[in-house]
Parts: sequence; structure tokens; C-alpha cells
Amino acid sequence: MKRYSRITGTGSYLPPRRLSNADLVAELAAKGIETSDQWIVERTGIRARHFCAPGVTCSDLALEAAKNALQAAGVEAQDIDLIIVATSTPDMVFPSSACILQHKLGIAGCPAFDLQAVCSGFVYALSVADAMMQNGTASRALVIGAEVFSRILDFNDRTTCVLFGDGAGAVVLEASDTPGILATDLHADGKHVGILCVPGSVSGGQVLGHPLLTMDGQAVFKLAVGVLDQSARAVLAKAGKTEADIDWLVPHQANIRIMQSTARKLKMSMDKVIVTVDEHGNTSAASIPLALDSAVRSGKVKKGETLLLEGVGGGFTWGSVLLEL
Ligand code: UT7
Repeated sequence: MKRYSRITGTGSYLPPRRLSNADLVAELAAKGIETSDQWIVERTGIRARHFCAPGVTCSDLALEAAKNALQAAGVEAQDIDLIIVATSTPDMVFPSSACILQHKLGIAGCPAFDLQAVCSGFVYALSVADAMMQNGTASRALVIGAEVFSRILDFNDRTTCVLFGDGAGAVVLEASDTPGILATDLHADGKHVGILCVPGSVSGGQVLGHPLLTMDGQAVFKLAVGVLDQSARAVLAKAGKTEADIDWLVPHQANIRIMQSTARKLKMSMDKVIVTVDEHGNTSAASIPLALDSAVRSGKVKKGETLLLEGVGGGFTWGSVLLEL
């Protein structure tokens, strides 16, 4: 019998420090950086974001989200046989945040690794976990997106520092006789490295290059709207479904205007799009599982419904997962 994978629980965590646009505008003004609530809301849809306290790491956020997902699934940490953490802001250069998380969960033995696909990280991680379920390598996985993007923001660059936030989202994915995940679609094109990157590295005990996020926002925007539409069509075709079969779009939360464009092209009403960018900002790999968990917990998204998850980000990377909850 064919094996599938199914999400059986979701969880998320936001650090307690919430900065509204007004809070951030005031902090930046004190440094001589001029921006406004009006610009941020009109151009992005963002109204607030959460930032970690000093010393809090990716695995700390992942741990809280994982505990919530385990509780929702009714699964004990001891029963987990695979951990994947999608992140671009790990605790250390190595070992992986997934290994650190495994120890914080009080378990040992199962494979644990980080996956780096920037804002597409969660759809990449879910696709890899799904493949490992299908081939029998794993039966009960924790798939997590966790980020502390506040650590890599350049607070002298108003074109990027107002966009991002910290947080984590998690799912428990279990092997199942029925789907679950209907189809996945992943892509990358490395020629676009320069339009969204943190062009720094560690060498000889020093940081070389610029270890903060840089982005050509307009170039990213244009690429994003094109590839998201292509990927949505590809994943629907793989599953033998059409736009009309999608109950909810759960997109990467970067910019409300990108989400509106995706919905328009899929002929979906914005009522069917899960939007959390207003309260979370762009949390990179954490944004999709954060949005998913908030939609599940609010009762908006229900078991049995068909969801299209879509991510896009640095690399350039992009991809989709079509699933039945
Ligand atoms: O998560 C990975 C994927 N990332 C994304 O999807 C991000 C995609 N890009 C975007 O979301 C948008 O391009 C941005 C939100 C980053 C920028 O929006 P935009 O409509 O493309 O604005 P822009 O870059 O064309 O800038 C318009 C103006 C410029 O001024 P001039 O040249 O017209 O005088 C900027 O200098 O807005 C100015 N500006 C700001 N003004 C006030 C840029 N940032 C700010 C700011 N506050 N924070």
C-alpha cells in the first residue's frame, strides 16, 4: 500500500516583544532614519512584528512551536523519528539548530538537520519530510520554520529593516494510508543570489563581508509574483486538481501586494487567503507555519480542507505544497 504523509498537529510561537510600526518608526527616528506607518502599511500591509530578547535563539523559538504542535497532535516528543528545522538564522554555524532542538526536547537518536532555503524553507522542509515518509525513512516528523531575522537586519537600511520579524511555526507530520500531502513542487535559480542575501561569512575568527540582509526589493517582487503563479499551476497539475479545488491559500507572508497578485491570478477571493503579515511581518521560513497555525487555531481552516502553501525567497528559491488537512 502506498504511504502518504499528513499534518496531524500545528503549533507556533512569537517572542513577547511586539513592535508596532509606530514603535519601530520612533526607534528608527532616534537614529536619524526616516520612515512612517503609512509607507509601511501601504507598501507591505505590515502593522507590527515581534523581536526576540537578546540571547534568545532559533532553537528556543522552535522548541516552543514544537511543543505546541506536539500537544495539538497528541504526540509525545519520544515518538518523533525525524526533525527538520528550516532556518537561515541558526543558533550557531554548526551543529544544526535541529540537533540543539532535539536535545532541548529531551530526545536522542532520530535524524535531525537544518534546511536552508530562506523564505521557501518551510515548503522545502515539508517536501523533504513527505518524501522521507513515502520511502519509509520516517513515520512521525517535526517540521519547523524558525527565524531570528532581527539579528541580521541592518537598522540603518529603512528599505529592509521595517519588513522582517522573529518567530517559529511547526507541524507534526505523520505517515498515513491516505493523503495528506497531495503534491509538492520545488525550484531554485542561483543566478539571482545577489538580489536577496546576507553576503558575509566567518573565516579565521572574523566576519568577512557584510553580515546583514541586503535586498533589491523591486527585483524580488517581480520574480516572486511570476514564479509563485507558475508553481501553483505546476503543483495543481501534479495532483490532478484545479484552482477551484483550493479552499485556502497559505502563502509566504512577505507583502500583502504579492499575496493579492497570487490570489488574483488563481481567481481566488482574498477571503480565502490566510494573512498574518500585518501582525508578524516577514518571518522568512517561519511565516507559512505561523500563518497555518493561526488559521487552524482560529477555526478558519478545518480538517478535510485543501490548502495551497507557497514560499519564495533568497536563492532564488520557490515552491508549493498542496495538501488536504
Ligand atoms: O521574503 C522574501 C521575499 N521578499 C519579498 O517578497 C519582498 C519583495 N519586495 C517588496 O515587498 C517591495 O519591493 C518593498 C516593500 C521592499 C518595497 O516596496 P516598493 O513599492 O517596491 O518600493 P520601492 O523600493 O520602489 O521604493 C519606493 C520609494 C523610494 O523612494 P523614491 O526613490 O521613490 O523617492 C524609497 O526610497 O520608497 C522609499 N522607501 C521608503 N520610504 C519610507 C523605501 N523604504 C522606505 C521606508 N520608509 N521604510
